[in-house]
Amino acid sequence: MQDLLSTALRYEKNTLYILDQTLLPHEMKWLECSDVDAMVEVIQSLRTRGAPLIGIACSVLVAHLAEQGMDKPQLAHAIEVLRASRPTAVNLMNNLQEMSAALASENYHQQLVKTAEKLFFEDISLCQQMAENGAKLLKNCHNLLTHCNTGSLATVGMGTALSVIQQAYKNNENIHVYVDETRPLLQGGRLTAWELSELNIPNTIICDNMAASLMAKGQVDAILVGADRIAVNGDFANKIGTYNLAVLADYHDIPFYVVAPYTTIDVDCLSGENIPVEQRDGDEVRGVKGSFGQVLWSPEGAKVYNPAFDVTPAKLVTGWVLDTGVFEAEDIKAGKLVKH
Ligand code: MRU
Repeated sequence: MQDLLSTALRYEKNTLYILDQTLLPHEMKWLECSDVDAMVEVIQSLRTRGAPLIGIACSVLVAHLAEQGMDKPQLAHAIEVLRASRPTAVNLMNNLQEMSAALASENYHQQLVKTAEKLFFEDISLCQQMAENGAKLLKNCHNLLTHCNTGSLATVGMGTALSVIQQAYKNNENIHVYVDETRPLLQGGRLTAWELSELNIPNTIICDNMAASLMAKGQVDAILVGADRIAVNGDFANKIGTYNLAVLADYHDIPFYVVAPYTTIDVDCLSGENIPVEQRDGDEVRGVKGSFGQVLWSPEGAKVYNPAFDVTPAKLVTGWVLDTGVFEAEDIKAGKLVKH
């Protein structure tokens, strides 16, 4: 397989490396990831994360294992285990479905490599297309608000919602971004604030519960978020706290956009009720850990509710920004989301 280089994944000289995002922004540590167990560990611990990125990381690993000489049944088993590593982001299942189709062919070793390379380079252009489609919506916007991390740490390209923000900044330098810190794992405060600062895009971190007061003061012109799975009716799952923002946006009459590539659409999922939501370990809420160490601030063993995602109903979405264009509620009702 050829070398594949991105911000958070590198396939170089036949070795797959994953950037440990739990240590960012203070420490850059690359982990060699050469088997299924290692990949499942980095995905479940969120060392690597983001809907498009985990799908591509698993596809690259499967192609690598094929090159290492794994046979068909072993590769089928690897795909099955990787598919189950996280339940919500459908890019993982969609990408691995393409890898399974490649595995079904006679010359499956070459086809798996070809498919993984295709998925990698396709994601880069999908990000660019979302950026161009979405930036047109932000012509008169100054203050944007975003949630979680949707940039080059969550994809192999520029990102989803963050690609749109980057493009808007390129087109109109008067952009400033409020970054939800995104409790419990702080993907906003640690990763998005870092990415935006590296790009010289002005940004301000807020605690998640500060968004409402900013909106009430008229300080948010548009909200952009990513998605982990979009149902056919336009409902979508994204990082926990996204639904809060959608409700607030509706109340304050602020445009609320979801930005995702076609690989995030689940053509078999009719509505948000059918999206499986990952439940995570309570310790993530009882305290915090990262490059700065580990702290427990709650009573030990305190009862915790910790869903990783929530589901936002389509009726709260102003526009779905995909690589194929910008869709509105009527387009979704007409089934256009899946017709491309
Ligand atoms: O748990 P994470 O960090 O993988 O969650 C990521 C998100 O919720 C993103 O917003 C989503 O993957 C879409 S953007 C690439």
